[in-house]
Amino acid sequence: MTPRTLSPITRRLGVTPRIRALAGCVPHGTRVFADVGTNHAILPIAVLRAQRAQHCIATDDSEPALADALRRLRRVRCTEQVELRHGDGLGPLGADDFDVLCIAGLGPRTMVGILERGWSRLLDRRVRLVLNPFGGSEVPRAFLAANGCTLHADLTIAERGRSYTILVADTLRATPG
Ligand SMILES: C[S@@+](CC[C@H](N)C(=O)[O-])C[C@H]1O[C@@H](n2cnc3c(N)ncnc32)[C@H](O)[C@@H]1O
Repeated sequence: MTPRTLSPITRRLGVTPRIRALAGCVPHGTRVFADVGTNHAILPIAVLRAQRAQHCIATDDSEPALADALRRLRRVRCTEQVELRHGDGLGPLGADDFDVLCIAGLGPRTMVGILERGWSRLLDRRVRLVLNPFGGSEVPRAFLAANGCTLHADLTIAERGRSYTILVADTLRATPG
């Protein structure tokens, strides 16, 4: 899908084909969707509009980005459903439960650094990971394989002449039988 085929409201919010594809990777019925490095909170808004999650936690290590995200959330009346938190990586998620974790638009090594630092948070139960590295998917791919994740989907999205990889994985292997 090209930006031209998106509805005007979707375009105004900045919901590009890549964002729309990321939102489509969030399973219907998700209770809590966590978006690390949310920037302007466009993805959580898209996830809510697609009615895929009940609640979102959106984090970023940039205060100006979160201030902009708050303005945007107020504009679209989503402040109740999207909780903004400041800090590095998975740190701001604290002990809160989430079913789906997205890290999108970060470099592959930054992304894997975030996963490594927060991995203990993801080990005790199944979490769906949605990863969209900018600048190569080999490092996150190797990390997922080395850490026993089951790759669920491997997508390539074209947008404005560039192609983006989205890896969708679960943190625990399904138990046979
Ligand atoms: C290019 S934007 C991507 C925004 C959005 N996720 C997307 O895919 O369009 C990257 C965002 O990640 C944030 N970021 C970078 N490193 C981070 C870290 N270690 N922890 C939290 N946020 C981080 C930046 O402040 C920025 O807002």
